[in-house]
Amino acid sequence: MSNIKLAEKFNNLTLESEDHWDYRGTNNSERDYVHGFCTYPAMMVPKMQREMLQVCLAEMSIPHPQLLDPFAGSGTILVEGMLQGLDVVGIDINPLAVLLCKVKTTLINVKMLEQHAAQLITNIEQVNNVTYHQFKGIEKWFTAQAICDLSKIRTAITKDENLEIRRFFWAAFCEVVRMVSNSRDCTYKLHIKDAEDINTYNKDAISLFKETLTFNSIKHNEFYSVLKRRGYIRRDGVSYKGSVKIILGDCIAYLQHTKKKFDLIFTSPPYGDNHTTVSYGQYSVIPLRWINSNDIDESIDEKLLNTLYEIDNISLGGMSSNKYVTRNKKNIVKKSETLKEQINTITEIAPKQVNKLISFYSDFDRFLATISKKMKPASVSVWTLGNRKVAKQEIYMNKIMVELGLRYNLSLLTNFTRKILNKRMPKINAYTGDEKDIQGTMTREHILIFKRSDIADE
Ligand SMILES: C[S@@+](CC[C@H](N)C(=O)[O-])C[C@H]1O[C@@H](n2cnc3c(N)ncnc32)[C@H](O)[C@@H]1O
Repeated sequence: MSNIKLAEKFNNLTLESEDHWDYRGTNNSERDYVHGFCTYPAMMVPKMQREMLQVCLAEMSIPHPQLLDPFAGSGTILVEGMLQGLDVVGIDINPLAVLLCKVKTTLINVKMLEQHAAQLITNIEQVNNVTYHQFKGIEKWFTAQAICDLSKIRTAITKDENLEIRRFFWAAFCEVVRMVSNSRDCTYKLHIKDAEDINTYNKDAISLFKETLTFNSIKHNEFYSVLKRRGYIRRDGVSYKGSVKIILGDCIAYLQHTKKKFDLIFTSPPYGDNHTTVSYGQYSVIPLRWINSNDIDESIDEKLLNTLYEIDNISLGGMSSNKYVTRNKKNIVKKSETLKEQINTITEIAPKQVNKLISFYSDFDRFLATISKKMKPASVSVWTLGNRKVAKQEIYMNKIMVELGLRYNLSLLTNFTRKILNKRMPKINAYTGDEKDIQGTMTREHILIFKRSDIADE
């Protein structure tokens, strides 16, 4: 691959028009194919990632590129990789993300899906003596009517004997759980709605489920058709021709042990620790408590769902004990001048928040050290980053990433920014320690494109 040409291609597109990468307007921001299955925080814009992936592939002369997203979230990159016929690997620590990745990347015989969906609807309508599902806090987060309806749907789903189809149903179910819960939908954190709003609850979970299931089935079929048209379906008429691997767990742990190496990495890491940026865990726990964990992954640790915070605690930057921070601070500030300056500023103006910053970047640095060893020579990585705020100070993740990357033979080919719209991020990323003081703006995303320049340390 010619890296100069690759950088040039991106630069030309950036210069083409001021808003080339903004992907605004209904058509551009559309979540087509299976991308729209279920809402997940901080999802990438599929068509924008599609264009970037196509630009990279056009310059690659590798026969079967291996594409990795170590922070796969709802699976945007994996789906885009399949649309290009690639082998894809996705990792995420959050079981809801893994469910979505598995569902979106699994193709099901269209007729069979239709038959099972019809049977499911009949079963839901025939549930007479519903066994009410139970978990800690269920009555806080759902009205009696919602618990009754969701329990009927849940019971009917568990009756289907086909695991892949059950997963398909669970994804639609999760979306409905979110829609009918008593949590406000203006933040990703769990915040109970006003009593008045709860008392006037009039959502019909069963109708919403039917609509969601129909929508998802249509989208699945569109995805299947386009893969078939492009010749990416095997002779059996159903399975995807490439390989798809989805891993539940910490990406650092997985990458330390795998022998695999990758040609292309497309990813969007968290912007900071989950507790003070985007609480992926809190967002996911309640839907996860409704579904059978084993259907997502056999290795799932049920303890993750015991509290609202477990998933966020084990995510990047989740550990911020004094011991962990003291052990890592010296090391991390030596690696990035920008981070060092920013840690000093935050230590002065908001000392209580500095541990979270050090903890996150120590984990992120460990991640970079590990992933750089899993990149093939001359591989390319494309990073979508957001600069969060701490105590009203913007933390320049885009600059810190470049400085840390240099330590691991990742050299910047090019970068650009894009304006972001329709995100719930602005409220959350301005975290000052006081929920009432949330008013910042994260209006830009940074796209950084690196090449793996040297593998002398292998
Ligand atoms: C910005 S989101 C990715 C969103 C994704 N690009 C999409 O389009 O849906 C970051 C993801 O990183 C995951 N994550 C955080 N820490 C992780 C870790 N140590 N290992 C793997 N995934 C992690 C979170 O669960 C979250 O899903």
